[in-house]
Amino acid sequence: MKPKVLVTRKIPDDALELLKRECELTVWNEEDEPMPREELLEAVSQVEGIYSLLSDKIDSKVIECAPNLKVVSNMAVGYDNIDVAKCDEKGIMVTNTPGVLTEATADLSFALLMATARRVVEASEYLREGQWKSWSPMQLTGQDVFGATIGIIGMGRIGEAVARRALGFNMEVLYHNRNRKQQVESELGVSYRDLDDLLKESDFVVLLTPLTPETKGLIKSRELSLMKSSAVLINVARGSIVDEGALYNSLKNNEIWAAGLDVFEQEPIDLKHPLLSLENVVTLPHIGSASIKTRKKMALMTAENLISALQGEMPPNLVNKASK
Ligand code: NAP
Ligand code: GLV
Repeated sequence: MKPKVLVTRKIPDDALELLKRECELTVWNEEDEPMPREELLEAVSQVEGIYSLLSDKIDSKVIECAPNLKVVSNMAVGYDNIDVAKCDEKGIMVTNTPGVLTEATADLSFALLMATARRVVEASEYLREGQWKSWSPMQLTGQDVFGATIGIIGMGRIGEAVARRALGFNMEVLYHNRNRKQQVESELGVSYRDLDDLLKESDFVVLLTPLTPETKGLIKSRELSLMKSSAVLINVARGSIVDEGALYNSLKNNEIWAAGLDVFEQEPIDLKHPLLSLENVVTLPHIGSASIKTRKKMALMTAENLISALQGEMPPNLVNKASK
């Protein structure tokens, strides 16, 4: 008998076909809507595997409702949506999709940095709203990117890929991690800074850490107050790494110059959120890895991780030590 698996959203065909060959599937087929909580709790009661998205909260309640569960395979590199400690306790494997989305996410990080620095979205709206009357010396002027200093907080896979792009723009690259990466420093010519010095020295601060208890609220009023008044904050990691209230105040009072945000504390962000009222914020709906090829690769990797776990193997991208 094939193992029962819940797929929480419509996914690319190749991945779906692969899963169908090996598993008995229940697929939540609403293209852009997450499964309502009650349906999720009910649907997991018989399954051995869950193919989850980062918008699915796989918390202790979900896990308690799934007595046969062996694996949660997340279609994302981040897995802060999953109660990994609870999975450990129950011997449930958790997997993610590292690497395949690195370059696409670095591309988007740099696109957001450029768009924010040079006011691309605002300028496009300016034209369409009929405000463009003539070329004018200081109209819609932004910040230089070429030759500026970028500070990357979280110099992991994506951080390094952003650093390589920045070097192409002749930028000075600073980084902050918990652990120094001497080899990356000598290979790329990047420099380590403690958090405060990175914030003080950088023209662009880019967040690329996972969301953990340690990084939750890492950037608050104090940290924002250390940044230059001309600085730009880019968050492509997770919304809760930044205190959004503090960020709003800092942007509103021009204590920092602008922010580019792909991620938010609550997703989707409430359209009445104060951050959306500011002109010096560029916002995106969590599209870091959203290229066609990358999303297809992520879907296949998620399916492969899941099948491998259900076949009793050690899945290639296991994030915890659990095994049943
Ligand atoms: P990664 O290779 O694990 O890199 C994470 C880096 O963060 C590591 O270098 C780690 O170094 C550092 N870090 C962890 N905790 C830290 C802390 N407390 N203070 C400072 N640095 C810390 O992960 P990745 O593949 O680059 O992905 C990074 C994150 O990006 C993901 O977890 C996800 O949340 C986010 N992401 C978002 C999108 C999107 O669509 N917006 C797409 C992909 C990924 P140390 O361990 O030495 O500290
Ligand atoms: C996206 O946010 C991911 O973690 O893959």
